[in-house]
Amino acid sequence: MEDREIFKLATEAANQSYSPYSKFRVGAALLCEDGSVVTGANVENRSYGLAICAERSAIVSAIAQGKRSFRALAVSTPDAAYPVSPCGACRQFISEFVGKDFPISFGGSDGTVVHTTMGELFPHDALHELAER
Ligand code: THU
Repeated sequence: MEDREIFKLATEAANQSYSPYSKFRVGAALLCEDGSVVTGANVENRSYGLAICAERSAIVSAIAQGKRSFRALAVSTPDAAYPVSPCGACRQFISEFVGKDFPISFGGSDGTVVHTTMGELFPHDALHELAER
């Protein structure tokens, strides 16, 4: 599946966003190793700090479906003109399941899509050995 297609699925997923507080829709599309795509959207709460980002929503959904290996992630923020990158918490969360060369792309409504990797967004990642105990 092409980058453009995954990004389109992320943009469609943004329509499922539950964001009555920020009114900022975010969609994510996770291409799994088996070729399937799992999408996510941000889910906010009236206790503001409980908001769950689209990226974590997609990953949690995929893991709950038994998927453990991923090929790429796209994030779409149609309510921002510029490309909005995954937040710090999401970078940590995504890094639990992917390697440093994992492709991540993100874009807003201006048509610019940034193509980067987990390693660029989250350098000096550590503590993977804790998962192997
Ligand atoms: N948000 C995401 O879903 N992903 C990001 O990468 C940035 C922020 C959400 C959280 C909140 O619901 C809204 O966007 C505004 O911050």
